[in-house]
Amino acid sequence: MDTDLNVCWGDIAGLERAKRSVTQMVVWPFMRPDIFKGCRDLGSGLLLFGPPGTCKTMMAKTIAGEMKAAFFHLSARTLATKWVADSEKVVRTLFGIARCMQPAVIFCDEIDLILDKSTTYAHQYRRHLKMQFLTEMESMDNKTARILLIGATSRPHDLDEVALKHLTRRLYMPLPSPDARSYIISNLLKKDGLFSLSEKDLKTICCLTEGYSGSDMAILVKTAAMGPLRDAMKEGLKDIENLEAEKLRAVTLEDFWISMQAVRPSVSPNETGAHAQWNLQFGSMSL
Ligand SMILES: Nc1ncnc2c1ncn2[C@@H]1O[C@H](COP(=O)(O)OP(=O)(O)OP(=O)(O)O)[C@@H](O)[C@H]1O
Ligand SMILES: [Mg+2]
Repeated sequence: MDTDLNVCWGDIAGLERAKRSVTQMVVWPFMRPDIFKGCRDLGSGLLLFGPPGTCKTMMAKTIAGEMKAAFFHLSARTLATKWVADSEKVVRTLFGIARCMQPAVIFCDEIDLILDKSTTYAHQYRRHLKMQFLTEMESMDNKTARILLIGATSRPHDLDEVALKHLTRRLYMPLPSPDARSYIISNLLKKDGLFSLSEKDLKTICCLTEGYSGSDMAILVKTAAMGPLRDAMKEGLKDIENLEAEKLRAVTLEDFWISMQAVRPSVSPNETGAHAQWNLQFGSMSL
C-alpha cells in the first residue's frame, strides 16, 4: 500500500487529452456512482499504455490522490516471479481488502505479465494467477463501485482479449511533446531554485531532445544539475563538506549540452509507432 501520493496534476507535463479523459471517464464516475450507473456505467478498469517512462505510474498515483482513495500498488513482476505459488491468494486477498477499504485504487504495473495472451499454455501457477485475476475483475459490480483497477503496460499487444473486455477505458500515454519537455525541465529546476535558462535556451534543448521519454528528461535534468558541482570542484574545492550550497551557480545550457552526450533516448521509434497503431485500433478517445 502506497501512502505517499504527493503528486498533483500540475506535476504532470503535457498529456492534456489524457488528463481531461481521466477526469471525465474515471474521476467523475468514481465521485458520483449514483449518476454513472446503468447506461453510464463505464466499468471499473482503466488501462494506461505507452512506452516506458511516460508517466503511467505517476498518473495512477495522481488519480488515487484526486479521489482520496487508498492506493494499492501491485507489481505483476513480483507476483509472477516471487510469490509464485501464493500469487493467487495474494490477488484474492488484495481485492478483498480493497472491497473493505473503498474508495480504493488497485494499480497493477506491467499487467501484461499477468494477463498475457499466451499464459494459457504457460506454467500452471501463471495460469491460476491469470484466472484468479480475471475472476476478480469479473466480480466487480455495484458493491465495488468505488474500486478502480488501473493496469499499466508498455506491451499492450500482449494483452489477452478477455482482459481488454474489462479494461474498458484505454488511454495512450505518448512520449512528451516539445512543450511538455520544456515544462519538465523548468518545473524540476524551479523546484530546487536552480532555474535560470532563457526561453531560447529551453527551445534549443527541446529541439535536441526529440524522442526522449519523460523519465529520460528527468534523468537529463538531474545529470545537468551536476554541472555546477563539477565546476566548483574544478575551481579548486577539495572538500565537499565545506561547499556552500547557495554559492553554486544555476544550471546553464552548457550543462545540458554535456548532459545530452551522456543521456540518450531510451525508446526506439519502432516502439512508438507500434503504440500509436495499437491506440488507433483499441485506444479510447476523449469524451
Ligand atoms: N509527463 C511527465 N511529466 C512530468 N514528469 C514526467 C512525465 N513523464 C515522466 N516523468 C518523469 O519520469 C519519471 C518516471 O515516470 P513514471 O514512473 O510515471 O513512468 P512509467 O510510464 O510508469 O514508466 P515504466 O513504464 O517504466 O513503469 C517520473 O518520476 C517523472 O520524474
Ligand atoms: Mg511505472
